[in-house]
Amino acid sequence: MKDNSNRKLEETAVERKALFDKINNFSEAFLEGLPERKAFHYNTHQTTDADSFFNINSEKTSLDNILSFFEERVLNVGLNPTSGGHLGYIPGGGIYSAAVADYLAAVTNRYAGEFYASPGAVRMEDALIDWAGKLMGFTEDFGGNLTSGGSLANLIALHTAKHHKKVIGTAIAKNVVYCTAQSHHSIYKALKIIGLEDCIVREIALDDNFRISVKAFENQLKADGAMGLKPFLLIANAGSTDVGAVDPLEALGKLAKNYNLWFHVDGAYGAFFMLTASGRAKLKGIEMADSIILDPHKGMFLPYGSGIVLVKNKKHLAAAHSYTANYMRDAYIEDQYSPSNLSPELSKHYRGLRMWLPLKLYGEQIFTDYLNEKLQLTTYLSDELLALGYKLVCKPDLSVVAFRLALKKYDNDTQNKRVLDYIQKDGRIFISSTILDDKLTLRAAILSFRTHKKDIDLFLKLLKEAKQNLMK
Ligand SMILES: Cc1ncc(COP(=O)(O)O)c(C=O)c1O
Repeated sequence: MKDNSNRKLEETAVERKALFDKINNFSEAFLEGLPERKAFHYNTHQTTDADSFFNINSEKTSLDNILSFFEERVLNVGLNPTSGGHLGYIPGGGIYSAAVADYLAAVTNRYAGEFYASPGAVRMEDALIDWAGKLMGFTEDFGGNLTSGGSLANLIALHTAKHHKKVIGTAIAKNVVYCTAQSHHSIYKALKIIGLEDCIVREIALDDNFRISVKAFENQLKADGAMGLKPFLLIANAGSTDVGAVDPLEALGKLAKNYNLWFHVDGAYGAFFMLTASGRAKLKGIEMADSIILDPHKGMFLPYGSGIVLVKNKKHLAAAHSYTANYMRDAYIEDQYSPSNLSPELSKHYRGLRMWLPLKLYGEQIFTDYLNEKLQLTTYLSDELLALGYKLVCKPDLSVVAFRLALKKYDNDTQNKRVLDYIQKDGRIFISSTILDDKLTLRAAILSFRTHKKDIDLFLKLLKEAKQNLMK
C-alpha cells in the first residue's frame, strides 16, 4: 500500500507558511492597489490564447505563475465587485474580516449541516438566524437557514409555502400567486422549480413609485374569489432590484391575513436596512410576513455566497424539508433541528463563520453606520442628478437611484445608451441599466461598503461629461 503521509496534500508547516505568505502578499497588494483598479473592464469578455492555462492536465504549475495568470485573466477582466465604484446591479463588497473567517472555516472544515456533527457550528448558525429574525420583528417560533444567496432562500421559502398550503395536483391550476413586474426573476425560477408554473400568476398593478397598489390588489383578490379561484401566495418586495421599491408591507400584511394568503417578503436587497431608523420606518409591516429572505452578501457587505431565509413558524420550514435515512441514524437528536432539516442541503459550506466573526468583532452598530452612509449618499446623488439635468424615474425608497437623460435632441434609448457606454468604457464607475415603462433606464445602486462621497462625485463628473458630449 502506498503511504501518502509525506506527499504534497499534507504540506509541512514551512510549506504552508510559504503558500500562505504568497497568497497573503498577493491579497495585500490587491487591497492596497484597489483605488487604482477599475470597477469595470469594458469589452474584455473575449477568449484569448492565455486562457488555455485554465485547463487542467497532469502538469504541475508554480504558485507565482498561477497568481500572475489569476491577476491577468480573472481580476483584470469583467466586473470588479470589490471596487467602491461598483454601483451596478446590487453590489456587496466583500469585507476582509469575512474573508479571513472563510479561511478559518475551510481550514477547520466543521460539518455545519448536522447538530450532531458540529453542535458549535450549528449553534453559531442558530444565533445568526435568531439575530436576523428578531431584527425583522419576528418574536417566537421562527426558524431559518443560511443559504448560498437570495435565489436559494426564495426557493426554500416558496417551497415551504407550497407545502404548508398543500398546493398540489389538480389544486395547482386554481391557486393564484400574486407578484409584480418588480419581482426578482429568482421568484419565477423558484415557482418553476417547485412545480407551480401552472398556478395562475398575477402581476399586481404598481403605483408611480413601483410599489404595489393596495387598492388594485384588493380588487384583484375580490375578482379572483368571485371567479372561484384560490388566492394562495403574495410576494412583496422589501427593496426591488430595479429601483429599490419597498411595497406597502403593513397594508399588504393585513390583506394577506384577511384572505389567508402566505405572505412572502423578498428583502434580499433591502431587509438589512432594518438596522437603520429610516429603513425601519419604510419596512414597517415586514414582521407580518410568513417568510422573509435577506442577503448578507448585499446588506452586510459579505463576499458572495450568503443568503438567509426566515420562516415565521419553524415547524412549517421543517415539515417541508425534513427527511430521514438509515445511515444518518446516529445523528438524530430528539427535539433538535439541524440545518439539513430546514433546507435542501446536507453537506454545506460552513458559512456561519463569515457572518458571525465580523458581527462579533465589530458589533452590529458599524453595519448601521455604513448603511446610513449609503442612504445619505443616495439623497446626495439624487439631488445632484437633478442639478445636472437628469430626471429621476421615482424617489428612491432605499439606496437605488433610477434615472434618465431626456434631451429633446435624441430619443430616450439612444441618449441613455450613450451615457451608459461612456461610464462603462471609462470603467472607474460601473452602473447597469434596466427597462422601466418600456424605456431604457440607468440605475445606480449604492451598497458597497467601499462607496463613499468621492466615488459619487467621480460618477457625477462622468455623467456631466457624458451629457456635455451629447449636447455638442
Ligand atoms: C430583490 C432580490 N431578490 C433576490 C435576488 C437574488 O439573490 P442572489 O443573487 O443572492 O441569488 C436579488 C439579487 O440581486 C435581488 O435583488
